[in-house]
Amino acid sequence: MTKINAAITGVADHLPEYILTNEELSKMVDTSDEWIMTRIGIKERHILKGEKGPSDMGAEAVKKLLEKTNTSPDEVDLLICATVTPDMQFPATANIICDKVGIKNAFSYDLNAGCSGFVFALTTASKFIETGSNKKVIVVGAEKMSSIVNYEDRSTCPIFGDGAAAIMLEPTTENLGVIDSILQVDGIGRHYLHQKAGGSVKPASHETVDAKEHFIYQDGQTVFKYAVSRMADTSVKMMEKHNLTSNDIAWFVPHQANMRIIEATAKRMGLEKEKVMINIEKYGNTTAATIPLCLCDWENQLKKGDNVILSAFGAGFTWGTIYLKWAYNS
Ligand code: UT7
Repeated sequence: MTKINAAITGVADHLPEYILTNEELSKMVDTSDEWIMTRIGIKERHILKGEKGPSDMGAEAVKKLLEKTNTSPDEVDLLICATVTPDMQFPATANIICDKVGIKNAFSYDLNAGCSGFVFALTTASKFIETGSNKKVIVVGAEKMSSIVNYEDRSTCPIFGDGAAAIMLEPTTENLGVIDSILQVDGIGRHYLHQKAGGSVKPASHETVDAKEHFIYQDGQTVFKYAVSRMADTSVKMMEKHNLTSNDIAWFVPHQANMRIIEATAKRMGLEKEKVMINIEKYGNTTAATIPLCLCDWENQLKKGDNVILSAFGAGFTWGTIYLKWAYNS
């Protein structure tokens, strides 16, 4: 039987209009453009204002994607939304996106794997294509990180931004698309990166709001150490498994959490900077949206057959690497 692969056949993004610069942040907390640029590598980030959520940005990205790929909403048979900042606890943001864009013949659900959300969702989605059960699957990464950032905490507020990006996944019998993925978790990470209240263990109360427990808690140094080693470990393991040298890799698409994490990972893989997609300076860490946002920014430079490695690390801890062959010239 001919093997079916899952190929990315289109990408699209949506970023909210408002841009929060380091200069503006420096007026809100005791920080500076120089500190943020040297320690993290972010210049500005987009922020979604008003009573709106990831579904609004996700729906805009999906509308653009349907138009670009000449797809009618009726043809889509599955949509997965990776997010840690859903519109509501329930229903799933994926369901709301489907409603907003008129996708009616599909099932959809959210997937929460922190900053690894997109690689977990892409891996999951590719299985539905590979088994032949689905034909047009959309994966969305959409986050309103500003809704859980404490803008009085200088150790976390410069890091995160809002945004959304979506990809279309379709079957191919060519040697293209998702070739392999290595995904892992270690629940020990919950101690170092989490949101203390708002879940069922500690529902929202006056006390939790007063104690600022609905914001991101991060032990940055511990997360940093795990991120560098785990992202590099799975990326190198993927290269070894498929006998890929750094020369064989056209593009490395890392999660955009910190420029120093990206550089350390690329170095362990033996990759020169020209092959690494980096847009952290203009979007910050948009959690599940960083990798598809990179694919959108680099779409014109990606060529059919390019070996592309995606890699992420995030809350959980979760981490993983995907090896794919780019499927089209734009
Ligand atoms: O995407 C999900 C996974 N998340 C990550 O991958 C994030 C991983 N962690 C990091 O990227 C880094 O740990 C941070 C960017 C969060 C922090 O950078 P760091 O180099 O680890 O800084 P630090 O926490 O060790 O702090 C160094 C100093 C401290 O001052 P003292 O104690 O040495 O006087 C901090 O108070 O920098 C200070 N500091 C700041 N100074 C100016 C912390 N934040 C700021 C700030 N502006 N915004």
